[in-house]
Amino acid sequence: MNTPNTSRAFTVGKTESGWARKVVDMPIDQLGEGDVLVQVEYSGINFKDGLASTESGRIARIDPLIGGVDLAGKVIESSNSNFKVGSSVIGHGYDIGVAHHGGFSQYARLQSSWLVPMPAGLDSRTAMMIGTAGYTAALSIDALEKAGLKPGSGPVLVTGATGGVGSVAVGMLALRGYEVVASTGKPENAEWLKKIGASEIIDRAETSAESPKPLERERWAGAVDCVGGATLAYIFRTLKYGCSVAASGLTGGTGISTTVMPFILRGVNLLGIDSVQTPIEPRKAMWQRIATDLKPTWLETQSVEIIGLGDLSEQLDKILAGKMRGRVLVNPHL
Ligand SMILES: NC(=O)c1ccc[n+]([C@@H]2O[C@H](COP(=O)([O-])OP(=O)(O)OC[C@H]3O[C@@H](n4cnc5c(N)ncnc54)[C@H](OP(=O)(O)O)[C@@H]3O)[C@@H](O)[C@H]2O)c1
Repeated sequence: MNTPNTSRAFTVGKTESGWARKVVDMPIDQLGEGDVLVQVEYSGINFKDGLASTESGRIARIDPLIGGVDLAGKVIESSNSNFKVGSSVIGHGYDIGVAHHGGFSQYARLQSSWLVPMPAGLDSRTAMMIGTAGYTAALSIDALEKAGLKPGSGPVLVTGATGGVGSVAVGMLALRGYEVVASTGKPENAEWLKKIGASEIIDRAETSAESPKPLERERWAGAVDCVGGATLAYIFRTLKYGCSVAASGLTGGTGISTTVMPFILRGVNLLGIDSVQTPIEPRKAMWQRIATDLKPTWLETQSVEIIGLGDLSEQLDKILAGKMRGRVLVNPHL
């Protein structure tokens, strides 16, 4: 394939008339530094993409920025012999879509040291149905299991269950034989959550309630929390003795009002989860797990909304408003 001259791309940044989101034809030599040029087949939409698309989100670190923290596609140029032209790759983390142009573009120029060769059993579409959100879910489950969680330990709570991280966590935990309790603020999606693996649904109002009590009934053998704030404080109060919560997100707030009691009387653990700076070798290993023992069975059968760059702005507003269900994919060639 000849190198294209331009890449159709969704950019955000300051203009004379204020902050703007635009679809533009970006000259290919303005895609940034990197030894590999990837034809993007799919990107996905993450909460972080929503934040990066707004001035107040204070996430975009170049201006203009082609957003898209996730991408998967085919190598069309490479000066690294480990990444052959025609091979499929996944790119995410390392501030792609934040400080370096990302996946909301027909082409992306990237450092090969950031790229994961597509594992057998996944393709660009399924990899992006998982994306950073699913990778974060996988990191969370891995951390909980390393801290002692086993199928049969008891119910595992997933908060923000209809979102990207939450919905993939529900599917992965169910696949591994856990009893999954899904907390959601969207009761209309209860049946869908059961279909992808939840055995019980509880209302977000319950898991985000504030309480003066330092401890409540021991309930959860583990928790995957991407909500933070009052929800994380609720989890501390209700984890069983010696159990852990893997915390990755902040859709419910950044502050936590808690006491030390759950830690010093019940020995509960807070496991911090970061998907951005995972070194490349453990990142590749985690994607191998995602392609095998953590691969949600519903991936291939689940219908997924696929949009073009022109519809991105609306979807970014939707994820910021907490209204998205599961994953929405972006095909920049539509
Ligand atoms: N640490 C990392 O490396 C990492 C990686 C990926 C994502 N994250 C973070 O994880 C979080 C989720 O990301 P995502 O892409 O899954 O976002 P998402 O698709 O928007 O999912 C977030 C979910 O949180 C729930 N929610 C929204 N507003 C809420 C509120 N005010 N209070 C309580 N729950 C609320 C909603 O689920 P329900 O309606 O079902 O309750 C929503 O679907 C974000 O904060 C993101 O920045 C962190």
